[in-house]
Amino acid sequence: MTQTATEQLQIFLDIATESVLAAGAVLKERWGKLNNIQEKGRPGDLVTEADKLAEAQVLKILNLHLPEHQILAEESGALGNTNSKYLWAIDPLDGTTNYAHGLPMAATSVGLMIDGVPSVGAVYNPFSNELFRAARGLGATCNRRPIQVSPTSELTQSLLITGFAYDRRETTDNNYAEFCHLTHLTQGVRRLGCASMDLAGVACGRLDGYWERGLQPWDITAGIVILEEAGGKVTAYDGSPLDINSGRILATNSLIHDSLSQALLETPPLAEWKS
Ligand code: IPD
Ligand code: CA
Ligand code: CA
Repeated sequence: MTQTATEQLQIFLDIATESVLAAGAVLKERWGKLNNIQEKGRPGDLVTEADKLAEAQVLKILNLHLPEHQILAEESGALGNTNSKYLWAIDPLDGTTNYAHGLPMAATSVGLMIDGVPSVGAVYNPFSNELFRAARGLGATCNRRPIQVSPTSELTQSLLITGFAYDRRETTDNNYAEFCHLTHLTQGVRRLGCASMDLAGVACGRLDGYWERGLQPWDITAGIVILEEAGGKVTAYDGSPLDINSGRILATNSLIHDSLSQALLETPPLAEWKS
């Protein structure tokens, strides 16, 4: 008997879930026991044995169930069948800087693109024990309960989140000006250091909007599906369709999308910014 598209998405979602839970168990087990923290290139861009061990768990599960699929994993790079329309984007430890410092805000993020469209996502934070999941058309959940975005419709009433990429010392396009500008226009801008949980936070209504530059597909593929299935909107900064390889994302509860987009585009340079 052939599977329906929905049944197939459900199977992929279960595999994504199995892999993030296995990786999360590794992150818990290695917590506080790290003895080899390295920089990957740029200052502050860390990798630990926990990143590698957690990624090995995800790869083992994907290879077992779906050996014919394509994979983009943060620590191992491109793997598998490059002709496949299925591409898994894996961040084994999103929030490595937090993890390495003993700050319990980190997650494993496993997302699937089908023909380039984010279609399945699982994000598991083993410290809060929160499992966010979604598949296109099937809704989004946190710990198996449906979630939805906030009803906040005014930028002035919103709580936002952002981040600063590892190349921030090498460019003036480092998000500092946007951070100042949006801090003035809203109830606040947070920085948790974990892009997948930033997106999940908007998806479940704790936050109203998120923007960031310098991201990789493994940071956001799963979170995009979760947010869109929870009623949110994801685009480029200017509201045009998202290019997942551009590094930039604007992600909101939908209601503040246009006003946040406009505010980002109108950000004055830092030199002109006054208190
Ligand atoms: C980082 C986190 C952080 C974001 C960085 C990412 P990593 O991922 O998601 O919030 O600001 O741009 O690279 O390095 O911890 O996997
Ligand atoms: Ca990441
Ligand atoms: Ca990572």
